[in-house]
Amino acid sequence: MIDFHTHILPCIDDGAASLEESLALLGALEAQGVGTVVLTPHYYGRKRDVEYFLEKRARADRTLCEAYQGGIRLLQGCECNLDTCANTDVSSLRPLALEGTRYILAELSFRPQWTKGDLFFRRLKELKEEEGLTPVIAHAELYPALRHRPEWAAALIEAGCLLQINCDSVINAGKRGLVRALLSHGQVHCLGSDTHDPRKRPPRYGAAAALLKERNENIWAGIQENMRKILADLPLRFAAGEPVKKTVLGYV
Ligand SMILES: [Fe+2]
Repeated sequence: MIDFHTHILPCIDDGAASLEESLALLGALEAQGVGTVVLTPHYYGRKRDVEYFLEKRARADRTLCEAYQGGIRLLQGCECNLDTCANTDVSSLRPLALEGTRYILAELSFRPQWTKGDLFFRRLKELKEEEGLTPVIAHAELYPALRHRPEWAAALIEAGCLLQINCDSVINAGKRGLVRALLSHGQVHCLGSDTHDPRKRPPRYGAAAALLKERNENIWAGIQENMRKILADLPLRFAAGEPVKKTVLGYV
């Protein structure tokens, strides 16, 4: 199993605050049967430039790899916040792609509403068209704008993006909730624990995997297959299908 979104690298963002916490998170994921973990610390354009971020990430990675004795394969990535990249040349974001691939985990705006004119949409387009990168939208189910207008999910897929959801959202998904609807519309491509620390945000990959498998084995297998293809840098593009709609009874 592949965990596509984690904040396990020590002392680089609001995730693991020590090497001990990093090792505890990896131990928990290994016990849950996860074999590959993508390390995706936050990158905010405003706070630091890419070079500084990459140096800091390399140091944190060395610290972790020297100490880690377990069997999980670790890959380098980041969670690139596009809302803060207004003054960033899009070509400078290229090294933030998931290790050895054409895929980049992108975080969008948490503003209550989106419009097609928002800066991050332009950035998504530039990443695709100018850099040949495919954005994977981090925790798509959490954005207030998308929760308000779930049709955005289909629009993002139509624009060539893939969508990742969080394990906690699978576990907490209501019957008529957004996550269930996105899954049944085929609008979920990747899964991540988005774990930050062992106490407040521990990884719950195993529990989410069990639920997904129980609900629909094919959807579960498809998500794992997508992530395998991404890590092998194979091209992926999906038809958006029917947009999810928000009704008085919930998401359908
Ligand atoms: Fe995250």
